[in-house]
Amino acid sequence: MAEDPHDWEIETQLVRGGMARSPYGEISEALFLTQSFAYPDAASADARFSGDKPGFIYQRFGNPTTQIFEDRLALLEGAEVCRATASGMAAVTSALMGLLRAGDHLVAGRALFGSCRWVVAELLPRYGVETTFVDATDLGAWQSAVRPNTKVFLIETPANPLLEVTDVQAVADIAHAAGALVVLDNVFATPIFQKPLELGTDVVVYSATKHIDGQGRVLGGAILSTAERVENAYKDLLRHTGPALSPFNAWVLTKGLETLELRVRRQADTAAHLAELVGAHSAVSRLFYPGHPSHPQAAIVARQMSGGGTVLAFDLETQEAAWRFLDALEIVDISNNLGDAKSMATHPSTTTHRSVPETERLAMGLTPGCVRLSVGLEGRGDLARDVTRALDRARANG
Ligand SMILES: Cc1ncc(COP(=O)(O)O)c(C=O)c1O
Repeated sequence: MAEDPHDWEIETQLVRGGMARSPYGEISEALFLTQSFAYPDAASADARFSGDKPGFIYQRFGNPTTQIFEDRLALLEGAEVCRATASGMAAVTSALMGLLRAGDHLVAGRALFGSCRWVVAELLPRYGVETTFVDATDLGAWQSAVRPNTKVFLIETPANPLLEVTDVQAVADIAHAAGALVVLDNVFATPIFQKPLELGTDVVVYSATKHIDGQGRVLGGAILSTAERVENAYKDLLRHTGPALSPFNAWVLTKGLETLELRVRRQADTAAHLAELVGAHSAVSRLFYPGHPSHPQAAIVARQMSGGGTVLAFDLETQEAAWRFLDALEIVDISNNLGDAKSMATHPSTTTHRSVPETERLAMGLTPGCVRLSVGLEGRGDLARDVTRALDRARANG
């Protein structure tokens, strides 16, 4: 019996999933930097365009290198189909646009990454889609936001930047009872710690820029769902609007997948260690880490995630204290990215979430003293020393 990749352990899927070798038999996945493809004859071109014969046509529609990335991620996620996009935002925007029409209504968790929030609050209404934000941890709020024209629920869990956790199965049940679909941004959990499709989600999106690359090189994104939904909701949209991932970036991301599990588990172990240390420091008034017992949704985390993730956040007293913390770091970089091998600290109010109106920021619990810390692969002792020193500095001059 031939091996079925669906039965492989995750480590094997990450290294070998979707492998399609050229006639040269290369070990490392081939990079096909080609925009278009030649057909042996005119009838073959006709057959490929009509869909009667399989084969590549043009890089905007598909590419052999991109397809390896897509097939590997689909296998990992347990999805029938993955379509790669040029960035996480291209994935989020297309995932929503493909499902919504003028006159439809969308419900989204209030705590969203700033650009996702802009798409929901500013872009979709321009095209006649009504939107409602809810406290994503409040099941009653999801339920009462439902209208007769509600078509999509958008969940980001854990959410950026305060790592709030939504009960995915319960929210999916509410959505489905209302005839709506669930789109879930799984960036913070990663495919290693959370399987949204098993929790009732209909469409999963990723910024592959984060943990999947994980080494600070390229942007990328992905939409995962059933073959039928991709065919009906996404195929034409992606083909004609052009958010395609470049094959070079697909190649980098494919190599990123090979080490994803090792990296993310190590990063999460160090994050859990730092969360203990940060939570116990006198300069910190609140810690946010899904893997910590103090997390308000710890019971849901235990049910739907197999690890706490690589990012934590915490509140210092003021913006000045948060900035003193950042400026005192000697190893951790000040940067707005996350999921990287290099640890990074961010001040969300003035960077990633500055486009969110202040009243909304406060409503979602994001204070001027909040710092987000993405934990990388550096030595845990060095990071502990760097973070402790910076916390001491944040307090000392305060
Ligand atoms: C939760 C979340 N979704 C989507 C994105 C967008 O991804 P990208 O920067 O690859 O467009 C980001 C970060 O940038 C994010 O943190």
